Amino acid sequence: MAILEIRKYPEKVLKQKALPVAAFDQELQVLIDDMIETMYAAPGVGLAAPQVGESKRLAVIDISTKDEKVPLLVLINPVIVESEGSIEFEEGCLSIPEYTANVKRAEKVLVRAQNREGESIEIEGADLLAIALQHEIDHLEGILLIDRISPIKREFFKKRQKKIQKLNK
Ligand code: CO
Repeated sequence: MAILEIRKYPEKVLKQKALPVAAFDQELQVLIDDMIETMYAAPGVGLAAPQVGESKRLAVIDISTKDEKVPLLVLINPVIVESEGSIEFEEGCLSIPEYTANVKRAEKVLVRAQNREGESIEIEGADLLAIALQHEIDHLEGILLIDRISPIKREFFKKRQKKIQKLNK
């Protein structure tokens, strides 16, 4: 296994619509294992393939905390088939370091996907899991959390980003 480089905003791969996964081969299994290791090392609660430079419809999620363990999810070609309610939460993203913003999302979602063997699975998520599912599936559409905030907040974000870029020159 290997820890992969996490791509950061404004890298182009993060804005692209990822391609469906068709082959559940050894190469895919290696990518999945590397993404899991990269997510835990970051640490993060989710990681989508475009964040490691792979434009593929694949994401891993683990919202476990020290006190509450939940199963690791490997989602391939995931689709939200049902959603309800509304919840607002302060989100962060490994591709946008040191930035958080309140994002409004559905409170509950039903996701249809494939597991790493290519079998069909359904995941029902509420609250934090629902947020993570929507955040990671957004990544597969090239949508970042800054695309989900108000235009005013986005302007602030862009100004902040310009300042950071100047400092790094
Ligand atoms: Co993210």
